[in-house]
Amino acid sequence: MNEWIPLCPADDLPPGTMRALQVGGHAILLANVDGTLYATAGSCTHEQADLVDGYLEGAAVVCPIHFSMFALATGAVLDGPATLPLQVYPVRAENGWILIRLETGPETPSRPSAADPAGNP
Ligand code: FES
Repeated sequence: MNEWIPLCPADDLPPGTMRALQVGGHAILLANVDGTLYATAGSCTHEQADLVDGYLEGAAVVCPIHFSMFALATGAVLDGPATLPLQVYPVRAENGWILIRLETGPETPSRPSAADPAGNP
């Protein structure tokens, strides 16, 4: 799935807040850190706690149960006991709405063209 999906009005996610939403069978955590938007899986990879019940610490989310910390931009584990990263999703705001794509992983880099396999413009 590669289209941008509107999730909620941008006004519903002011800086310093998080929201949990369900999209296409995925539990999503949206976070706004000083105006930068992040979208990750909504459940901790340790024992599936709802991360929206945790708290933000800089550009990281801390799980409410055993306090694993995940980088919002990459999903990387910054502090355990979790060992597996969070899924992250591309997210942006447009016309007052927050949109995400449900593709897996970080932004997919553009593929090199056949004319220039090195990917130079
Ligand atoms: S459930 Fe999140 S750290 Fe254990």
